[in-house]
Amino acid sequence: MDYSNLEEAYKIELETNPAPWSKDNFFSSFEVGHNSIVCKKDHKIIGFLIFSLIQNESHLLNIAVLEKWQRKGSGKMLMNAFIKQSKVLGARKIFLEVRSKNTNAINFYSKFNFMKDAIRSNYYTGSNPDDAVLMSLDI
Ligand SMILES: CC(C)(COP(=O)(O)OP(=O)(O)OC[C@H]1O[C@@H](n2cnc3c(N)ncnc32)[C@H](O)[C@@H]1OP(=O)(O)O)[C@@H](O)C(=O)NCCC(=O)NCCS
Repeated sequence: MDYSNLEEAYKIELETNPAPWSKDNFFSSFEVGHNSIVCKKDHKIIGFLIFSLIQNESHLLNIAVLEKWQRKGSGKMLMNAFIKQSKVLGARKIFLEVRSKNTNAINFYSKFNFMKDAIRSNYYTGSNPDDAVLMSLDI
């Protein structure tokens, strides 16, 4: 993802996330140097993934695919690229948090052999409260 993609990617965030990142969060994530990957179809962004690397740990911060392109393998391409880049950058483990009610995403992560490590109760607050499921994958 580069700066010119941010607006386009943020529209996907608004469409797919019931509690989306604010535009400020989205743009400042880019500015602080988080890594990001996009998936394009006909030069248009249809999905993105954002991650940060701390020593040998890679943290999946956000992933989304436009609804009309879901279940067509874009998420899988993003995840495979993410795992590969994380390894190349020296990570040995990937961590993520997902809403417990987001069974689609939990199924998606399980397909890549992510394991459920713990539940963080009432982690998500606001209008759409939920517990967080903490998942990880050794790479
Ligand atoms: C999670 C998400 C990124 C997956 O992207 P995608 O492009 O639909 O995923 P893929 O088509 O590559 O699916 C790969 C595999 O994951 C699993 N999977 C994906 N979506 C699933 C769903 N809705 N229900 C059950 N399993 C699912 C399947 O095993 C699938 O393989 P299959 O289609 O051969 O059965 C997408 O659903 C999304 O953008 N969701 C909204 C945003 C979100 O919840 N992000 C996660 C925040 S933590």
